[in-house]
Amino acid sequence: PRKIAILTSGGDAPGMNACVRAVVRYGISKGCEMYAIYEGYQGMVDGGDRIRKMDWKSVRGWMRVGGTSIGTARCKAFQTAEGRIQGAENLIKEGIDSIIVCGGDGSLTGADVFRSEWPTHVENLKKTNRITEEEAERHKHLTIVGLVGSIDNDMSSTDITIGAVTSLHRICEAVDSINTTAMSHSRAFVVEVMGRHCGWLALMAGIATGADFVFIPERPPGEEDWRSRLCEVAQRHRQLGKRKTIIIVAEGALDNSLKPIKSEEIKDILTDRLGLDTRVTTLGHVQRGGSPCAADRILATIQSVEAVRAVLTSKPDTPSPLIISRNNQIMSTSLMKAVELTHEVAKAISEKNFARAMELRDPQFAE
Ligand code: F6P
Repeated sequence: PRKIAILTSGGDAPGMNACVRAVVRYGISKGCEMYAIYEGYQGMVDGGDRIRKMDWKSVRGWMRVGGTSIGTARCKAFQTAEGRIQGAENLIKEGIDSIIVCGGDGSLTGADVFRSEWPTHVENLKKTNRITEEEAERHKHLTIVGLVGSIDNDMSSTDITIGAVTSLHRICEAVDSINTTAMSHSRAFVVEVMGRHCGWLALMAGIATGADFVFIPERPPGEEDWRSRLCEVAQRHRQLGKRKTIIIVAEGALDNSLKPIKSEEIKDILTDRLGLDTRVTTLGHVQRGGSPCAADRILATIQSVEAVRAVLTSKPDTPSPLIISRNNQIMSTSLMKAVELTHEVAKAISEKNFARAMELRDPQFAE
């Protein structure tokens, strides 16, 4: 039987456990032997009991559990050739021929690099007698399939990433709570949200909560005029009778000279220029924690089924697939192409080609 392992890597995201559950159970139903690699790539390098065989019951009750129960880590050892060779040896010793990686773009790139180096690792291990001729023959290829688990929704080629909608719910609930206290005191709040270099969480939270102003990296305001525009909008809304002002700032927000826009500065502007009693709330890791919402459980489950299918139909000479969603359809694309497109966004922003950045992120919101 095929021996397939799943690992989670990078920042955890709600829905990762639903992925592990669905990968394990669908794999078993297709006659495969299923494994979980604990602690991300670190577990692959460490081997031993970090690589565990999973049965149907191993993942009972995992659907609704937030985070990742098999652990995740940012692994230094896997960035070295020796670490990757050790990882290859551990996989071969367990007889594992395929890995499904659930993580962000960095984790997925690491997986694809590992796959491309695989024949060299096998050759190396054979030459140094760490594996037998027979093992080398049986493990000529490694199959890699990617699933995007990230609250940031920052991967190009897919409409949505696993965990992003749950995180958006958390943000909306938090802003709803802030609204009541803001109204009571007639205050302004600057709410800083996660997303790394991506403004999706901030933009969607702004729409979903009816915020007064949103700052995102892909659509940076003019270096000088954002301050006056912010005041003009906040004041206009106050004149319309609003008792609260809510500004949502993506943690990666920039102005068009690529200088970071800081929550504290926004607070000072609202305080000094408009006399608004202003507070900053940085939502932090509460946005990443807790049980996945129904949409993320469903997305994780159906994408994971597709990931196992992709393992079973993959060929040694085709690019590693990434499971994505486009227009409500689950499909696969080239993992490396999606990663390259994602990097193009950062490049477009650094070249101040903001229209291109927005278009690459999400054409729907380019306007
Ligand atoms: O990528 C997910 C994310 O939560 C980002 O939104 C955030 O910038 C980063 O991870 C925080 O990383 P850490 O958990 O290492 O502080």
